[in-house]
Amino acid sequence: MKFPRGFLWGAATAAHQVEGGNINSDAWLLEHVDGTVYAEPSGDACDHYHRYPEDIALLASLGFNAYRFSIEWARVEPEEGEFSLAQLEHYRRMLAACHEHTIKPVVTLHHFTSPRWVAARGGWESAETARLFARYCEHVAEYLGDLFAIVCTINELNLGIVLQQSGFLHSDDAIVGSRWRRAAARVMAVEPEMFSSFPFCVRARSRDVLLEAHRRAAQALRSANNCAVGMTVAMLDLQAVPGAEDVRDRAAAESQDIFLQAARADDFIGVQCYTRQRIGVGGPLPPEPGAEYTQMGYELWPDAVEAAIRRASAVARVPIIVTESGIATDDDPRRIDYVQRVLSGVAQCLRDGIDVRGYFYWSLLDNFEWLFGYGPKFGLIEVDRQTQRRKLKMSAEWLGRTGRNNEI
Ligand code: BGC
Repeated sequence: MKFPRGFLWGAATAAHQVEGGNINSDAWLLEHVDGTVYAEPSGDACDHYHRYPEDIALLASLGFNAYRFSIEWARVEPEEGEFSLAQLEHYRRMLAACHEHTIKPVVTLHHFTSPRWVAARGGWESAETARLFARYCEHVAEYLGDLFAIVCTINELNLGIVLQQSGFLHSDDAIVGSRWRRAAARVMAVEPEMFSSFPFCVRARSRDVLLEAHRRAAQALRSANNCAVGMTVAMLDLQAVPGAEDVRDRAAAESQDIFLQAARADDFIGVQCYTRQRIGVGGPLPPEPGAEYTQMGYELWPDAVEAAIRRASAVARVPIIVTESGIATDDDPRRIDYVQRVLSGVAQCLRDGIDVRGYFYWSLLDNFEWLFGYGPKFGLIEVDRQTQRRKLKMSAEWLGRTGRNNEI
């Protein structure tokens, strides 16, 4: 099947996971505190901060026409109100490199990490952060907006809720009382309840702040230039066992619909999907016996992406971009098989008239997978941890070729 003209074929990364040395961010701090929940520190990551020219050139030579990456707030505004022109210039060079290679940049303005000073002022639990985030976005738009094509404000606004619903994160109380949160607060010389980092923020306090931040940021970006603006949402394919439909619907309303409905005011919605979640009357159920798992410990379920696109499109009623979908595995043929199955789901959605504008594989490089460190391998490109040398996997060549041919 031919894909629509102009369909975006890309790969995605996030600043903290690939750049290296993101020392003014809350994540860097949390990687180093007493009682840290990170398996290892991010360190130099993939040194993409310096090596982006070769990485973008490689992406283009493979046949891709788009690159999703993030701008790091902790670099652009390392201390409150101190905006770094040098860092803005760095991202300007990155954007220019994309345009030189006819790669459409899809830029995310917040991908999980915030400056340490933001985290120490209550982070996303504090209403003030919506204003601070919008101010940062205004600065970015002013300096870089002319080179933007598509902008995602905040990556996975609903992350905290999804992680708690699936049982991955502990309760709000456990987060507030955790050793690492107290240790980080000590470093920043604030009370423990003042330190809050995006992936672990107390959901009851943060949901409306995040939605307000998105609304204000989108307004600032739209008034500075005419790029397409949206948010990205983490979507599990929530599947009810017979009798648990109401439980599933309540979970979907809380973790997806509120955000998808807010996206009705946007130019698109970024769908990010990795697996399904079975739901019983008592809540989340483990995978069925015999299920296949990825290196992340969750079920391999490529059909989830099609279901997520359909649901996002039905509720948000705006164009869809699959801003992330991927698999952590050392078995590269399995990756190709996974993406092939995901893409047939995308094709089925297109046939049914759903406006899907692009597919971004997560991730371009084997990178820093947050709490899991460098263990899981999501990349199309392998990175030697000693030398930083890049090595193409078969999947990179296969997906690049698919993109160049614009068909599956
Ligand atoms: C995040 C990425 C992460 C990926 C794989 C997504 O939820 O946006 O930063 O690496 O999942 O776990």
